[in-house]
Amino acid sequence: MFQKIINEKNAEKSALDHQINICIAAGCGSVNSNAVKQALEETVRNKGLEKSCKVKGVGCQGLCSRGPLLTLYSKDKAPVIYQKITVNEVPKIVANLGKPPIKKYTCPGDLPFFTRQQKIVLENSGVIDPEDIRDYIAAGGYQSLNNVIESMHPEDVVKEVFISGLRGRGGGGYPTGLKWSTVTKVQGKGPKYVICNADEGDPGAFMDRSILESDPHRVLEGMLIAGYAIGSNKGYVYIRGEYPLAIKFLNKAIEQARLHNILGHGVLGSTFDFDIEIRIGAGAFVCGEETALIASIEGKRGQPRPRPPYPAEHGLWGRPTLINNVETYANVPNIIRNGGDWFAGIGTPNSKGTKVFALAGNVKNSGVVEVPMGISLREIIMEIGGGVENGEKCKAVQTGGPSGGCIPEALFDTRVDYESLKALGSIMGSGGMVVMDNRVSMVEIARFFMEFCMSESCGKCIPCRVGTAHIYRLLNKFMNGEATAADLKRLEDLCKVVKDNSLCGLGQAAPNPVLSTLRFFREDYLALIKEPETETASVD
Ligand SMILES: Cc1cc2nc3c(=O)[nH]c(=O)nc-3n(C[C@H](O)[C@H](O)[C@H](O)COP(=O)(O)O)c2cc1C
Ligand code: SF4
Ligand code: FES
Repeated sequence: MFQKIINEKNAEKSALDHQINICIAAGCGSVNSNAVKQALEETVRNKGLEKSCKVKGVGCQGLCSRGPLLTLYSKDKAPVIYQKITVNEVPKIVANLGKPPIKKYTCPGDLPFFTRQQKIVLENSGVIDPEDIRDYIAAGGYQSLNNVIESMHPEDVVKEVFISGLRGRGGGGYPTGLKWSTVTKVQGKGPKYVICNADEGDPGAFMDRSILESDPHRVLEGMLIAGYAIGSNKGYVYIRGEYPLAIKFLNKAIEQARLHNILGHGVLGSTFDFDIEIRIGAGAFVCGEETALIASIEGKRGQPRPRPPYPAEHGLWGRPTLINNVETYANVPNIIRNGGDWFAGIGTPNSKGTKVFALAGNVKNSGVVEVPMGISLREIIMEIGGGVENGEKCKAVQTGGPSGGCIPEALFDTRVDYESLKALGSIMGSGGMVVMDNRVSMVEIARFFMEFCMSESCGKCIPCRVGTAHIYRLLNKFMNGEATAADLKRLEDLCKVVKDNSLCGLGQAAPNPVLSTLRFFREDYLALIKEPETETASVD
């Protein structure tokens, strides 16, 4: 189907002596990688090297803290990664083409950061040009869609996703195959919808943004396959307005896919019609909750509603709707390409495949990593992340954002899977991982997340609206040294009330950072109490 494009791309590549991949995703963009790219292009042109050396803008290469990152590919030589490159280094790098790498700027390619990862979703990130559909196609893109349309019955597609054991990467971990089959089975005439949830409102999370900035066609392909499988002709990507680059690349990808007959009427010459539109959210965390997201697309106020009915039966405009996360869709092309059994062979019995994490906070190597499920927190933080900087001791990691919890360093041998993290009072969430060193007060962390939940509460139900504000006030009392032992008990009780009585996941999970820090870092709270010896005193 795409052989002409693949041949052209291969011919272009083999005519080159060098290719310089420079990261233009938001992380490196914020440290001027676009100026570096421009300088590279100009220098290569001025030296008359444009036929033998290509400068290519690519997405995130993972190690964002060492950006701007660039990778130099030279014929018959191992690739070289250069880190923290500014416009000043560009003439030296271009003048050095064909010679041994400049040590001063080199980032070792054998760092555990690179060697310990297993890339499925990120296989093209930092490798292909996110603004060029031909690059995605040359990397094998849209081949799964083509195979699905040409040779698979929709039911078989759902079955394959079912066999893979893929679980939703948006936080809940619901089995994707089961969700797809529920939407498929809803009877009756009328449209069905496919929604991609790219709201990503958790502080500290940037995985979905990175995927969309690096490989937007992969997400479109996953949505197209989903549309074919469930009998839908229309998809929406709901993305927050704070992600302008991801929106730009997505828009471009949609336009290019339409031009290549991959989106629109008669996808790839078949009888299957499918189109995708973007809907931009205004950056409310609650709009990531599926029923609030649907209300927002419908033009209503983004507030959750009780479930059931679930969107699978009663979704967008009351129609059956499949809603999945960016990373969930991004896994689908590979599941189809290699088979559900292949995917199910990676990870653990209950958490299959890989997971993308945004590694941030007091960690040496921060950025985006993809690892097989079942890897330990210690391997991710200490080996891949390189541990804590400045010789401080690592204290904890916060996983799952405002819905998650803090896990102490002593428990870092815990395997990363949905159930193990839940057992520790945290969650996998969508993949944010914030590392904290010994200097951090866990009460301060709990207060940060509670302030976030309080301001993001949509106000629909009292336990969340009033409860989060009360919890926040209590945490302030601790931080100001005004709390008593009775406040500690009040805090715990209130957390349980909010958790058990809130309508949606925001309120139900908001107390998690407080409860987990109370469980593992109680001493941080006790140290702030006016009269610590009275902790067990009667409250009334
Ligand atoms: C307050 C709140 C915020 C959420 N934010 C997101 C989000 O940003 N992205 C996301 O994919 N899921 C988010 N979810 C989960 C979605 O409601 C839904 O479960 C998910 O999009 C389903 O996709 P999945 O099965 O692929 O995970 C959020 C849930 C809650 C309660
Ligand atoms: S739990 Fe909070 S965010 Fe969710 S519906 Fe209630 S008030 Fe709104
Ligand atoms: S944004 Fe450039 S390496 Fe991550």
